[in-house]
Amino acid sequence: MEVQAIKQRFGIIGNNTLLIRAIDIARQVAPTDLTVLITGESGTGKEVFPQIIHQLSSRKHGPYIAVNCGAIPEGTIDSELFGHEKGSFTGALEARKGYFEEVNGGTIFLDEVAELPLSTQVRLLRVLESGEFLKVGSSKVLKTNVRLVAATNVNVEGAIRQGKFREDLYYRLSSVPIIVPPLRDRKDDIYLLFRKFAVDFAEKYRMPVIELAEEAKQMLENYRWPGNVRQLKNITEQISIIERNRKISTDSLRRYLPEGSFNELPVLYQGEMKESAYTERDLLYKVLFDMKKDIHDLKKIVADILQDDKPSIHLAESNARIFDQTDNVQVNLRPAEKTMPVNKDFHEDYEDSIQDSEVIEESLSLEKKEIDMIRKALSKYNGKRKNAARELGISERTLYRKIKEYDIR
Ligand SMILES: Nc1ncnc2c1ncn2[C@@H]1O[C@H](COP(=O)(O)OP(=O)(O)OP(=O)(O)O)[C@@H](O)[C@H]1O
Ligand SMILES: [Mg+2]
Repeated sequence: MEVQAIKQRFGIIGNNTLLIRAIDIARQVAPTDLTVLITGESGTGKEVFPQIIHQLSSRKHGPYIAVNCGAIPEGTIDSELFGHEKGSFTGALEARKGYFEEVNGGTIFLDEVAELPLSTQVRLLRVLESGEFLKVGSSKVLKTNVRLVAATNVNVEGAIRQGKFREDLYYRLSSVPIIVPPLRDRKDDIYLLFRKFAVDFAEKYRMPVIELAEEAKQMLENYRWPGNVRQLKNITEQISIIERNRKISTDSLRRYLPEGSFNELPVLYQGEMKESAYTERDLLYKVLFDMKKDIHDLKKIVADILQDDKPSIHLAESNARIFDQTDNVQVNLRPAEKTMPVNKDFHEDYEDSIQDSEVIEESLSLEKKEIDMIRKALSKYNGKRKNAARELGISERTLYRKIKEYDIR
């Protein structure tokens, strides 16, 4: 079957070369019994691939089952997959066949395969290598003939480094890897998908089809689509239902696109995370922390000015409350000989910024967060202060001072 026919049969929209390549690999590997691992971000459209593979294989008249490994509790997953003997655990009132036995002669799709517990991964590896498995609570070796297709939206290599996924299983699973590209790498397909969904939803809700103004189309294509096709589909549905004016402008469209994912904005690094690496939240805390530090420095400068003989007692007195709350900044309020006019705007801005910093301090307990980040940075670089300081964007000396100050070991 040609790729074009597969697209039609399985309702796949898109002409992007990366997508076509993924479909083509599925087409070629389908008639073999090779294990296939499908990877791609959430919402990219992975779920259709195991169906293509099963339908185009000689097993197409055999059973097909899709198992979401992330949705089955750890305690029962072995029994679900491999079955159990009567009395093998509390509640096992009857013996039960597992999917690997039920689907003998067919295809199993293990979705979210990276969620499998390590003990289950061992069983899975065995069944993949020899077709053999044991039911839970049994020592009798059973045989099955199942073709496996697995999918994941997590970075399996990262999971291997963290000890959460077995390397041998990974190599066994990914005899043939299929990579489903994220929507932002398929810009040419975005408008096509939108049109298709718009028509479908117009039909479903019996309303006129929504259309995009030219700039709105560009906005749609430049958006980063963190939720990929699923997000595009959801948004098209929402707009189809809500917007009375069926010609969608950039202003209306923007309301449906969560901020922070427009391509013109800086995007935080989203690559694989090492165990000790920072989350986006950590980075935000860091930004806030830097702001707090700046404010603190400013306070200190103002305090120093006020300690001079010249400046006004008014300025000092009116800010006494602030300086009382300023940690480590000692201000001695002395009677001033002269009065200096206070710039009202500056005064208000200054007070606002101090109040902001107080809110931040209270609600986010930045200090705790800072200690946390210092610990992370130190552990990432095995205690090497120089590297940790560079990572944190502070000088080695400041880091040294903070380690002492917070008594970090
Ligand atoms: N090329 C496409 N053409 C038409 N619809 C698509 C396409 N790709 C994805 N979709 C639709 O987008 C939605 C999300 O796809 P799917 O459920 O396959 O995502 P996924 O990759 O399995 O995500 P997750 O990792 O979160 O499970 C589905 O409704 C699917 O039908
Ligand atoms: Mg899925």
